[in-house]
Amino acid sequence: MDKILVTGNGPLNGTIPISGAKNAALPLMIALMLSEESLVLENVPRLADVDSLIRILENHGIDYRVEGKRRGTSEMSGRTIHFSAAEIIDTTAPYELVSKMRASFWVIGPLLARMGEARVSLPGGCAIGTRPVDLFIDSLAALGADISIDHGYINAFAPNGLKGTRYRFPKVSVGATHVLMMAASLAKGTTTIENAALEPEVVDLGTCLNAMGAKISGLGTSTITIEGVEKLHGARHRVVADRIEAGTFAMAVTMTGGEVYLKGVQPHLFQTVLDTLEKVGAEIEVDEGGIKVRRNGRALSPANVTTEPFPGFPTDLQAQFMALMTRANGTSEITETIFENRFMHVQELARLGADISLDGQKATVTGVEGLNGAEVMATDLRASVSLVIAALVADGETTVNRVYHLDRGFELLEEKLSKCGAKIVRIRD
Ligand code: UD1
Repeated sequence: MDKILVTGNGPLNGTIPISGAKNAALPLMIALMLSEESLVLENVPRLADVDSLIRILENHGIDYRVEGKRRGTSEMSGRTIHFSAAEIIDTTAPYELVSKMRASFWVIGPLLARMGEARVSLPGGCAIGTRPVDLFIDSLAALGADISIDHGYINAFAPNGLKGTRYRFPKVSVGATHVLMMAASLAKGTTTIENAALEPEVVDLGTCLNAMGAKISGLGTSTITIEGVEKLHGARHRVVADRIEAGTFAMAVTMTGGEVYLKGVQPHLFQTVLDTLEKVGAEIEVDEGGIKVRRNGRALSPANVTTEPFPGFPTDLQAQFMALMTRANGTSEITETIFENRFMHVQELARLGADISLDGQKATVTGVEGLNGAEVMATDLRASVSLVIAALVADGETTVNRVYHLDRGFELLEEKLSKCGAKIVRIRD
C-alpha cells in the first residue's frame, strides 16, 4: 500500500489550481443515466472515487470516452469525459461495486425514474457513522415507488412511472436531495422538496439537469420545485470547483504561513470557512480568478467551530480545521453535528503531539508549541488530509499510511503541495 512521507518545513508559496468537486462530479455522473442522449462533463477530477463510479456505470451499460490532452491544458486540468447512457442494460447495482463508495447508492434515483425498477445494494463508504438510507426510501416512496429490502439490497419499483408530490425532508441530506431531484425530473407532475440541501453541489446538479431539459427552480434555497418532463436530452456541463479541496489548501497555508493563490474557486462556495480562517489569522484577498490566502508572522488564534449543513462550516473540513487548531495560541472547541463518528483523526493527531480531548460530539483542542513527526494512519478521506496538514509543520518526518483514502478525494495532492514548497513524496508499494 502506498505511503506519503512529509517532512515539516517552511511556508507554502505559489498557485494551486482547484479541481472540479468530487461531490459534484459523482451525482452528475449518476444523473446522466436519466437521458438516452450524451452528457459531456468538463473539469472531472482524476480520483479513485470517479473511477469506481465509472465501473458501476459500465455495469449498467454506460459508454464513456475521455478526451485527450488539449493545447493550453496541463496535467492539473480536469478531464473532459463524454458519457452515453443510450441503453441501460442492467438495473442492479451489486454489493461488490456499491460497497466501495456510498454515493454509488444514488444510482437508485435515475434507474427507478427511467427504467421503472432498481435493485441496489445498501451502501458502504467512509466509516464515519451509521449513515442510514431512510430518507432515500421515504422520499422515493412519496413519489409512488414500491420499495422493499431483502438480503442487503433495496428493491424499488415504479412500473407506471413516478408521480410528483410535496415532500419535506425531516433532516437535511445532500445525497437524498440529489436523488429526489433526479427522480422527480422524470416524474409525472410537480414535486416540491422542502428542507432541501443548499450545498453548491446540489445547485450544480440542478443546473446541469436544467441544461438537460429539466424544469427545476429554487436551487440554492430550502424549497426546490421540479416540474416533471417526459425526457431529458444531452448537454455539456462544467463541474463546479471543489470547495473542500480549496478549504483544505487554505488551511494548509494558514498552518504553514506563506501565500497561496487558489485558482478557479469563488468565495461564495465556502464563505464561512474563509471568515473563520480570517478570524484565526489568515488574510484573504479575492479576485475574479480565485482567492489568495496569506499568513505572515501572525500567531494563530483559537476559534470555536460547529459543523452544519451549507452555508455553515462543512463537516468535510472539520478534521483539517482541527489539525490547524492544534497549533493555535489557546483552546478551541470543535463540535461535529452531521456525523456521529467523525473524530477518528483525533488519536492520529495525538500521535503527532496534539492535545485534544473528546466529549461526545465535542473536541477541545489546546494549541501546542510544536508537533513531532510520527507514523500515522489515514482513517477516512478528510481525516487523512488533516494529518498531512499537521505534518507540514511537524518537526521531522511523518509517514501517512493507507493513503488510498486520500486518492479517493484529492487530485494530485503531493504535486500541488510540492509545487508550493512542501516536502512531500509518495512511496509506492
Ligand atoms: C455528502 C457528501 C459528504 C459530506 C456530507 C455532508 C458526497 C458524495 N458526499 O454525503 O462528503 O460529508 O454530504 O455534507 O456528496 N442521513 C440519514 N438518513 C438518510 C441519509 C442521510 O439519517 O437516508 C443522515 C446522515 O447519517 C448524516 C446526515 O443525514 O447524519 C447528512 O448526511 P448527507 O447529507 O446525506 O451526507 P451524504 O449525502 O452521504
